[in-house]
Amino acid sequence: MTIIRAVYHWLDQRLKLTPIGEMLLNEPIPGGASWVYVFGSATLFLFCLQFLTGSFLAIYYAPTPDHAYDSIQFIMTSVTFGAFVRGLHHWGASAMVVAIGLHMLQVYLAGAYKPPREMMWMVGVVLFLLTLGFAFSGYLLPWDQKAYWATQIGINMVGTVPWIGGVLVRIIRGGDNLGALTLSRFFALHVLFFPLMTFGFIALHLFILRRVGPAGSFEEKRTAGAGAAVQTERRRRPVSEPFYPRQVFIDAVVAGGVFLIVAVLAVGLPFPLADKADPSDTSFKPIPEWYFLFYYQGLKYVHGVFEPLATWILPMIFYALLMFLPFVDRNPARNPARRPRAILIGGVFLILVFGLMAVSLKEIYSVPTTNRSVVRGREVYSKLQCSGCHRIHGSGGAVGPDLSYVGKDRDRDWLNRHFDNPQAVVPGSIMPRLPLSPSERDDLTDYMLSLK
Ligand code: HEC
Repeated sequence: MTIIRAVYHWLDQRLKLTPIGEMLLNEPIPGGASWVYVFGSATLFLFCLQFLTGSFLAIYYAPTPDHAYDSIQFIMTSVTFGAFVRGLHHWGASAMVVAIGLHMLQVYLAGAYKPPREMMWMVGVVLFLLTLGFAFSGYLLPWDQKAYWATQIGINMVGTVPWIGGVLVRIIRGGDNLGALTLSRFFALHVLFFPLMTFGFIALHLFILRRVGPAGSFEEKRTAGAGAAVQTERRRRPVSEPFYPRQVFIDAVVAGGVFLIVAVLAVGLPFPLADKADPSDTSFKPIPEWYFLFYYQGLKYVHGVFEPLATWILPMIFYALLMFLPFVDRNPARNPARRPRAILIGGVFLILVFGLMAVSLKEIYSVPTTNRSVVRGREVYSKLQCSGCHRIHGSGGAVGPDLSYVGKDRDRDWLNRHFDNPQAVVPGSIMPRLPLSPSERDDLTDYMLSLK
């Protein structure tokens, strides 16, 4: 301890650290430290984790179509802690989307984007867009089938923007095809442009925070009786507490908890690579990351002339509204109880997003569990390792046909005959004749028929 003190004293004499420390740690928090103020710092923590894990991944990663996939495979199989670090980076990205979402939700509910904090909100929206940019650019880097075809879809959507769509697509893709130039472009964005921009905007976000001060609770009271709460919103009570020590402690505990969750996911739910990207295999149907699922589902409901509505018109309106929210919402009240319209709109939006996400998850993963034989059939499928050759919704091999929708194309009789003897139904088939008991065969057929 005394050594640390001595070193600090030595540095302090030269660098005059004490005033800086005081400035950083004595920031008053109106209403006092609280567990509800942790989402911003949790997001910042996750960004730092992404920066660190990403830097280590970059040591081995090679951003070319010939080597990207193999370099990830090398990280997964041969690098010490490679799979763990990649798991941290993968789940850290998901956690970051959750954290920034909760942070924005909280700011929205507490009306903390209202004057004088408009600029802070707008910088926050830029940081949110950067987070999505990280997610989109990072998804291509493993250069597997999922990466390739999901990115293809994303780029095609940009192409639907009128007039400038074609130019935008060429800029993003770096040419006529999704290829080597696209990959190095996405890599540069993901590891240089976006991180630099993010650091800059985080600094700006925190600078503004320190200039205007934290918003604090919309009620502006902790100690007085509940009856006074409604009255006190405008008469700011001077009850506050410095950032250090209690809020620092709370933020640190939450950061530790967040790391633990991400680490457990990284160990427990490894993130497999699909097959290496094959630009000629147009049959591949990619499933986006969970945070884009609601959007993916929404796209299924629009066709023909309405397609631009979903691919760019509504997203543009959404981002514009989000960006200029502090100027669109002129209601000066911060208490949610006195902002029925804002709360209603926010609620409808969340119900829509989570509803679409639920429908999407149901369509992708659900097997009618009332039907026992379908469930047994799925077990047979995994026991006999059919996924070595077949793919269902993005996972499995590509030796045989994609079975995601086989129930639509084939009937019971065909499937039974095919399982009994593939070569008799499809001459020359390399699908092995599997040792299935009659009941296993029926279960498997039921499972196949459920895939539509
Ligand atoms: C060695 C690779 C291999 C394995 C293992 C394999 N298949 Fe196949 N499968 C194929 C090939 C190749 C075809 C395409 C030729 C054919 O239809 O026989 C195919 C075709 C199919 C079809 C017909 C698809 C269609 O609509 O044409 C079904 C259904 C099927 N397999 C199910 C299964 C199931 C269930 C298992 C596990 C018990 C399995 N396969 C194991 C290679 C394999």
